[in-house]
This record gives sequence, structure tokens and C-alpha cells, in this order.
Amino acid sequence: MTRPTFFALAVMTLDGKIAKHSKHESSWSSKEDKTFLRKKLAGCDVIVVGKHTYDVSRKPLAKRNCIVLTRSVATTRRAGERCLYCNPRETDLKRLIQQLGYRTVCVLGGTQTYSLMLKLGLLDELFLTVEPLVFGTGLPLFDLAASPVPRFRLVSIKKLNRRGTLLLHYRAK
Ligand SMILES: NC(=O)c1ccc[n+]([C@@H]2O[C@H](COP(=O)([O-])OP(=O)(O)OC[C@H]3O[C@@H](n4cnc5c(N)ncnc54)[C@H](OP(=O)(O)O)[C@@H]3O)[C@@H](O)[C@H]2O)c1
Repeated sequence: MTRPTFFALAVMTLDGKIAKHSKHESSWSSKEDKTFLRKKLAGCDVIVVGKHTYDVSRKPLAKRNCIVLTRSVATTRRAGERCLYCNPRETDLKRLIQQLGYRTVCVLGGTQTYSLMLKLGLLDELFLTVEPLVFGTGLPLFDLAASPVPRFRLVSIKKLNRRGTLLLHYRAK
């Protein structure tokens, strides 16, 4: 079975925050980032997302194939035509995705989900948008004590608008 490709999409502030709190929507990002996000989501087979993020963005996500991480199910449970709840503690996520025939997987966050996927070695690429604003407090992109330290290599940098929103593309080393 071919190994799927996993890429993460995230937008963060200058101080490295992806949200003010776990129920904060991502409406604060620039329209250029939203355009990029929509294009990438349209090109993937499935989205892996945490339950908090799914709840915050249920409407736009409902029309896409989603695997929603949650401890509320023992293993997996279908929660709609395009939505599968999955407890990664009891399920081999990579194997499940392979069995379902998905080849391109978008990891959409939030912090807990990015962290788990990094820990599992399931983040091949990272598309990170940096918006020129500061929350001062909030959720970081990752929150884990990783050993060995995960390393990435910069593939490209693109300035998305005149205010200086940057799109950074990294690949796992
Ligand atoms: N700026 C961005 O690019 C961006 C992207 C995505 C999300 N966000 C924001 O991030 C915030 C949410 O982030 P978050 O870290 O609080 O939550 P999250 O990762 O979206 O979801 C956390 C939930 O996912 C489930 N989960 C996580 N790890 C698990 C594991 N190892 N095993 C089983 N279930 C697991 C649990 O669900 P249960 O509680 O149901 O067990 C957990 O409560 C929201 O404000 C969202 O808008 C920002």
C-alpha cells in the first residue's frame, strides 16, 4: 500500500499563536490566506482535524471528507456521510487512511492535532502563513516535548499581500 502524503496548513501570528483559545475561530486571517486555504483543501482527499477545530468550523468542513480526532469514540464511528470520528489512541491512523484509499491528507489542526501528527511522524510538509499581528497569549502551533527534535527544511517563501502576510512552505528533513 502506498504511504499517503501528509501536509499541515496553519496560520499564526508574529508571536506564534494559532488562536486565542480553543473555541476561537480563524476568521482573523487575511483574505489571501483564506484563498490559499480553500485551494489546498480542494486538492486533498481528506482532512484530519481535532474535535475542537471541527466544532468551531463545522459548516465549511461538513462538505469535505474529514477524520475528526476525539476520545469520545472507542475506535472509529461514522458521524455523517463525509465525517468519521476516530480515536487515534486505539486506531492506527496511517493504516486507516491507507485502507480508506486516501492519498493526500491535510492536517488542519488545532494545537493538539498538529502536535499528535508531528509526534506520530505524520507531517511531511508544513504550509505556514504568518500574519503580521500579535495575540500576546493563546494556543501555540505545537505543544509537545519532542525528542529527537523534529527538523524541517524551507522550500519557499511567498509574500501574499502588501501588509506582509508571509506563506512559508517547509518539508520534513
Ligand atoms: N490558526 C490556524 O491555522 C488554526 C488551525 C486549526 C485550528 N485552529 C484553532 O485551534 C483551536 C483548537 O485547537 P485545540 O488544540 O484546542 O484543539 P484540536 O486539536 O482542534 O482538538 C482537540 C480535541 O481533539 C481530540 N484529540 C486531540 N488529540 C487527541 C488524541 N491524541 N487522541 C484522541 N483525541 C484527541 C480531543 O477531542 P475530545 O475532547 O472530543 O476527546 C481533543 O479535545 C480552535 O480555536 C481553532 O480555531 C487554528
